Amino acid sequence: MGLREKQKSGSSGSGVLKVLLMFLALVETTAAEYNNEIVSLRQPRHKNAYATMMYMGTPRDYEFYVATRVMIRSLVKLGVDADIVVIASLDVPLRWVRALEEEDGARVVRVENLKNPYMDQRNFNKRFKLTLNKLYAWNLSDYDRVVMLDADNLFLQNTDELFQCGQFCAVFINPCIFHTGLFVLEPSKAVFNNMLHELETGRKNSDGADQGFLVSYFPNLLDEPMFHPPANGSKLDGSYRLPLGYQMDASYYYLKLRWSVPCGPNSVITFPSAPWMKPWYWWAWPVLPLGFTWHENRRQTLGYGDEMTMVLIQSVFYLGVITVTQLARPSIPKLCYRRGDKNVSMIQTGIKLIAIWCILAAYIIPFFLVPRTLHTVLGWSLYLLGSFALSSVAVNSFLLPMLPVMAPWLLIVGTLLVMACPWYTNGVVRALSVFGYAFCSAPVLWASFSKIVSSLHVSLERETFFPRLGESPPPPGFNKLY
Ligand SMILES: *[C@@H]1O[C@H](CO)[C@@H](O)[C@H](O)[C@H]1NC(C)=O
Ligand SMILES: *[C@@H]1O[C@H](CO)[C@@H](O)[C@H](O)[C@H]1NC(C)=O
Repeated sequence: MGLREKQKSGSSGSGVLKVLLMFLALVETTAAEYNNEIVSLRQPRHKNAYATMMYMGTPRDYEFYVATRVMIRSLVKLGVDADIVVIASLDVPLRWVRALEEEDGARVVRVENLKNPYMDQRNFNKRFKLTLNKLYAWNLSDYDRVVMLDADNLFLQNTDELFQCGQFCAVFINPCIFHTGLFVLEPSKAVFNNMLHELETGRKNSDGADQGFLVSYFPNLLDEPMFHPPANGSKLDGSYRLPLGYQMDASYYYLKLRWSVPCGPNSVITFPSAPWMKPWYWWAWPVLPLGFTWHENRRQTLGYGDEMTMVLIQSVFYLGVITVTQLARPSIPKLCYRRGDKNVSMIQTGIKLIAIWCILAAYIIPFFLVPRTLHTVLGWSLYLLGSFALSSVAVNSFLLPMLPVMAPWLLIVGTLLVMACPWYTNGVVRALSVFGYAFCSAPVLWASFSKIVSSLHVSLERETFFPRLGESPPPPGFNKLY
C-alpha cells in the first residue's frame, strides 16, 4: 500500500528514483509470489500423503531434524505422487520449519504436544514422552490415505502402492507386535477424537509410547489378511498386514549382508535397534554396513554444509597441534624435575598415571568432538587425525616411543578395514573375522602397553638423576640453594 503511494509521488520525481522504486516494487511482488507459493504449500495438493512427526526436547533433536530432511528429499527423489507432511510441535524452531517448507517442499502442520498419560508407568522411557504426537496423523483429514513414518526409514524404491491399503495397515517385524515405524491409515476425525478420549481414560499401553497405544487400539491386526495392492489401482477397505519388505529390520541385513526377502517388495529398511546405532551417525559405517547407504543418500540430497565449518576448525586445530608438537617438543618429566623433590617415587607414579590417561584421552576425546551427523568417511578421517594429533602430544610430552603409543591407532585402522572388506559371504563370517582380528590384536595392545610403561620408567629414572638432560649434572648442594 505504502509503496504504491510512494510510486505515485515518484512518477513526478527524477528518473533514478523511478528506477529505484520500480526495483522496490519488483522485489515486493516477487516476495509476494514467494509467500503465495508458501501459502499454497500449506494447502494439500495431492490426495495422499507421507507424514512424519517432529518434536523438541530430546538431546537428539538436531539429528532427527537432519534425518527427517534426508527422508523427505529421498522421497521426492523417488518421485512419489503424494504430499509430504511434517507434523511439527509448536516449539520446533521457525528456521527449521522454513527449511522444511522452502528447501525440502514439505507441508508443515503445527500441533500442540499431546500430553502423555503413561509417564508414571514403571517401564516408561522418557525418550518416548512425545511419540503420541503420531496420533495427529488421523487428524490429517484432507487426505484419503496417509503413510506415517519414523525418521529412521531408508527408502529403496517408491512405495506409492501403499496408498491403496485400507483404514489401518502395519508390518509385523516382531511375530506378535506390529511395528509403528511405518503404517498406513485413513485419516478420520472420529477415530482421532476417539483416540484422544482413549488417552484420557488411560487405555492399556504396554510401553507408554505410540507403539504400545496403537497395538492396544488395533488388537486384531495379526488375524487380518496380507495386503496385495489391486492391479486396477483401487483402494482397499479394512485392515491389513503389510509384507515385511516395507520394514526390513537392518539387523536381518547384518546376518545375510544382502536382502533376501523373495516374496513381496524390498522397499524400506528400518533401524529399530539400539538408539546409538542409527544410520545417520558418522560411526555407523563400517560397523553397520548400511550406514554408508544412508550417508550416500544424504550426500546426494541434503549435503553436509552444516557440519563443514566444524570439520574445518577441528582439522586446522589438529594439524596445528601436530606441527607445534613436532617443533617444540615440550617435556613434562623435565619440567617436573627442575627442583629435586624428595617424593620421587610418588611423582613417578603420578606421571605414569597421567601419561596413560593422556594416551587414553587422545583416543576418546576426538570421538566426541566429531559432529555426530557427519559423513561416515569424513567422520572417521577426522577422528583418526584427531587421535593421531593428541597421541603425538603424549609421545612428545612424556618422551615415549612412537610405535607403541600409535599401536591402538593402527589397530583401529585395521579394524575398520576388516569390517569394511566387501568380500564376506554373510554376516556370520564377517563377525567371526572381526572377532578373530580382535583376538590377535589383544596381545599387541598388551605388549604396547607394557612397552609404554617400561619406557616411561626408564625416562623418569634418567630424568631423576640428570634433571636437565644435555646439561652438566648440577653441582652438589645446588638443589639446597633453591
Ligand atoms: C485437527 O485438524 C483441524 C484442521 O483440519 C484443526 O483445526 C484442529 O485444531 C486439529 N485438532 C487438533 C486437536 O489439533
Ligand atoms: C478392482 O479390482 C478389485 C479386485 O482386485 C475389484 O474388487 C474392484 O471392483 C475393481 N475396481 C474397479 C474400479 O475396477
